[in-house]
Amino acid sequence: MEFKQLVKARYSCKKYSDRPLEQEKLDAILEAGRLAPTAKNLQEQHVYVLRSPEALAKVDAVTPCRYGAGTVLAVAFDRTNVFTYPGEKRDSGVEDATIVATHMILAAANEGVDSCWVNKFDPDELAKALGLPEQEDILMLMDLGYAAEGVGPLPNHDKRKDLAETVSYL
Ligand SMILES: Cc1cc2nc3c(=O)[nH]c(=O)nc-3n(C[C@H](O)[C@H](O)[C@H](O)COP(=O)(O)O)c2cc1C
Repeated sequence: MEFKQLVKARYSCKKYSDRPLEQEKLDAILEAGRLAPTAKNLQEQHVYVLRSPEALAKVDAVTPCRYGAGTVLAVAFDRTNVFTYPGEKRDSGVEDATIVATHMILAAANEGVDSCWVNKFDPDELAKALGLPEQEDILMLMDLGYAAEGVGPLPNHDKRKDLAETVSYL
């Protein structure tokens, strides 16, 4: 899909059909995450594909926001393999994982796959339930699938501030 069209077309899907996500589309989404840039090329992300009934039940136990998606990605990062920026106030973990997730959510739209970014859950609770390594923090969950019939963007999808409110030329 043409990029300008793609960024407009992506929206947060909040109800999914039973149509399974094809492996080749999932592979394309995961590949877009693999190619994402990270600070110092550390690639500290770890993406978990949650699609077994057991794993999805663990998602449902921590959030109401799966919305029936048959595949959920948990994007985590290794907090012991991050770049600490000069000044030592921040490190790369959250933002590198965010870039990976953003690449994947746009790749999903490019594949015609619907998605929703989900942060309404306790990441520590989910990491424990999934048995993730102690040094990994979960950044976000990404619902993936195909919208249920008649479902589309919510009205707020088209409500964005004007550029004049969010951009300043100095
Ligand atoms: C960082 C982030 C966290 C979000 N967390 C949730 C969530 O937990 N549950 C949910 O239903 N939607 C969540 N969303 C989706 C937003 O509500 C949605 O992106 C926003 O309202 C704009 O709508 P649009 O994506 O359709 O344009 C999240 C989006 C972002 C970017």
